[in-house]
Amino acid sequence: MKKLIVANWKMKPNSLKEAKKNFDTVKKVASRMSKVETIICPPFVYLSSLPRVTLGKPKGNPWLGVQNIFWEETGSYTGEISVSMVKNLGVKYAIIGHSERRKHLQETDEMVNKKIKVALNNDMKVILCIGESERDINSNYLYFLKDEIAKGLNGVPRKFFKNIIIAYEPIWAIGKKGKDANRPENVMQISIYIRRILFGIVGKELSKNIPILYGGSVEPENAKNLLTEGGVQGFLVGHASLVPKSFNKILQIAQNIK
Ligand code: PGA
Repeated sequence: MKKLIVANWKMKPNSLKEAKKNFDTVKKVASRMSKVETIICPPFVYLSSLPRVTLGKPKGNPWLGVQNIFWEETGSYTGEISVSMVKNLGVKYAIIGHSERRKHLQETDEMVNKKIKVALNNDMKVILCIGESERDINSNYLYFLKDEIAKGLNGVPRKFFKNIIIAYEPIWAIGKKGKDANRPENVMQISIYIRRILFGIVGKELSKNIPILYGGSVEPENAKNLLTEGGVQGFLVGHASLVPKSFNKILQIAQNIK
């Protein structure tokens, strides 16, 4: 399985000029990678200036992704963006259920579920974000994670599971630097746990091919250990993806892993 490295630019950078520069710098490296799929998820407003489409089809390395999508396909929903609008620009991936949206915009598991279904129905690949806000001694966070996966994927037809990616992003590890980041052994335990949950939902054949990503303070300094010892198939990268030099280093590390 190729490694998947996803850049989540969040609400940055502030100018189109910077966005283009960032994108082009990453593209130069990403386009040479044979073992890594790179996905860049900029804010919506920049998408049309960074199109990735040839002959009506999305183009990869880097692929384009969005950080959110609305659950209806069209209609009177002021301020929202539909799947077909972004698909026409060559967007192939959608991050859905990021913890910052769940927290600041009160996005619920039910909304996440509807968004996942509309994206899948339109042939997009979905990156479902899950993650606990803290760990407790009674392991309630494990039930919480199970719930987020089960509710997010509730009613999703089996045929769509080939387009599902799970991103495990413990909220307590997001946006930090260096020593406060997650440890590979922690990530390994949770990736096994997630795989077991997926096994319970769709069985062995489908669940074994679902990529599990880790997100939360991924940087060039910890990328190699997390990839080799964390049991994950890639990353969702926040702050380090806004520094093209750092992001390119992470791509290179993923490419060099045996
Ligand atoms: P971070 O963000 O890499 O800055 O921790 C990850 C994310 O929120 O997707």
